Amino acid sequence: MGALERLDPPPWAHKMRITFCQSVLAVAIVVNLLILYYISRLQQRVLHRHRDHPQPRSPQQHGNQLRSGVTVLIREFEDFENYVPNVVRGFIKQRPWLPVVVVADRLPYPPLVLPAAPNVQLMVLKPAPDKPAQVFRPEAYVKTEYVVLVPDGVKVDPTSQLEQMLEEFQVSQGKAEMVAVPVQSLSPLQCLNLRVNLREWTAEYTAVPPPGKLCTALKGDAVLLLRTRDLFNLSLPLAKPLLTSLFIQTSLRGWAVRVLDLSFSALHQPLLTSSHNQWKADNLARSQRAQLFRDFGIKRLVLEDGKEQWFGCSKETARCFGTIHDDTPEYLYQGRWTPPCCLRALRETAKYVINILETSGVRYWLEGGTLLGAARYQDIIPWDYDVDLGIYLEDVPNCELLRSAESGSIVDEKGFVWEKAVEGDFYRVQYSEHNHLHVDLWPFYPKNGLMTKDTWMDHRQDVEFPEHFLKPLVPVPFAGFLALAPNNYRSFLELKFGEGVIENPEYPNPAMKSMESVN
Ligand SMILES: *[C@@H]1O[C@H](CO)[C@@H](O)[C@H](O)[C@H]1NC(C)=O
Repeated sequence: MGALERLDPPPWAHKMRITFCQSVLAVAIVVNLLILYYISRLQQRVLHRHRDHPQPRSPQQHGNQLRSGVTVLIREFEDFENYVPNVVRGFIKQRPWLPVVVVADRLPYPPLVLPAAPNVQLMVLKPAPDKPAQVFRPEAYVKTEYVVLVPDGVKVDPTSQLEQMLEEFQVSQGKAEMVAVPVQSLSPLQCLNLRVNLREWTAEYTAVPPPGKLCTALKGDAVLLLRTRDLFNLSLPLAKPLLTSLFIQTSLRGWAVRVLDLSFSALHQPLLTSSHNQWKADNLARSQRAQLFRDFGIKRLVLEDGKEQWFGCSKETARCFGTIHDDTPEYLYQGRWTPPCCLRALRETAKYVINILETSGVRYWLEGGTLLGAARYQDIIPWDYDVDLGIYLEDVPNCELLRSAESGSIVDEKGFVWEKAVEGDFYRVQYSEHNHLHVDLWPFYPKNGLMTKDTWMDHRQDVEFPEHFLKPLVPVPFAGFLALAPNNYRSFLELKFGEGVIENPEYPNPAMKSMESVN
């Protein structure tokens, strides 16, 4: 390059008298040229590197607030049919410098042909063994203070929507952590209230009256603006389905979203042009949703119309917790109670078994922790994992299923499994052949006014007791029906568990996991 040749003195230099000022000027020019040359080399090298390994880039740091402050992030689109390139073009037509990041699980195929601009980037979440971790972290691509999550198919018209969203975000500060603008679609955006109770594996949506524009969840298509640091401080910021996942996490943090009186229109309505593609998209969305609830440990959903949806165990699946060690099921260590599907199955089994005992003339009573639950909650204790019933040993022959269970386990007409327990002289009724949630039946017999039995478990409550508690048995509300319990069951329970047991809940083995201990 010319700049280097200029280092040699020009041939006329020795002939002319050069003033001090002239030489200073010459040196300054040469130094400037050298610097320019060096910078251009450097830039070329950086550009070259970027072509080989796309790296997160920072947007221009000047201009108005929008210019420096918002990144458009597109997360949800179908590989097989989408409008992502159109959406991106829509955004950068008016603002060629606007940072846009398209986030895909895998490299889209067929390929996504995005406008070639340094501020438009496609990032892939699926790691590759030859690339650095940073490349797969979406937060590394968003350098702005705010991020706007844009669904596929949004038409950017009018163009000032983003500025308005930012202004409204600032107006809402202190009240809402997010602002949303509906995308006009066939079904209007719904403002919902979402309550997530992880301990009970439950998410409950309720409809919020529209005047209060603060919602904790939305249903439908919306453009959502929030602070970048808020988004990427979530546990799973970009899990799909995006808004479902987001609002589960934000509602747990007490965040709200304000729906603005603006709207985006759609490029195409409906978005997908064939019913086959729509079918494919619906299937994918369904499995993503089920996977999301599994990942978040949500097994029971109550929808805004009151309908329930279950993602937990059923009669056809295995019990959703494993073998119990030290009387302390795994879920207690996770800071959770019995999955609601299991409680439901236990209630169903208890009701079914009790009905059979009553009709076949077997005297029974709620025992142990089950009686405690009835006294305390009129239900199964919310962290209990089985149901215990006491029965009179002499009544066993009255029940055909119990008689048959003596000679091996049998599956009854409703799919419940009756068996003699291998652990000792008691009976067990399992919810199904696959799902081993169970009701245990403990046969007692009277001896000198005490009720006793031959197999004892190493539990404080597993002790003899005076027969007068069973004369008479009294009906108590339990799990949605009436079941029989010992009379004066408070003293019965205090005899077995100790004083004040009804008023002072505690986990089954406080030495392993206590209610007071921090999760
Ligand atoms: C991230 O979230 C935690 C709580 O979930 C909060 O304590 C912390 O301040 C947050 N960090 C930022 C940078 O917002």
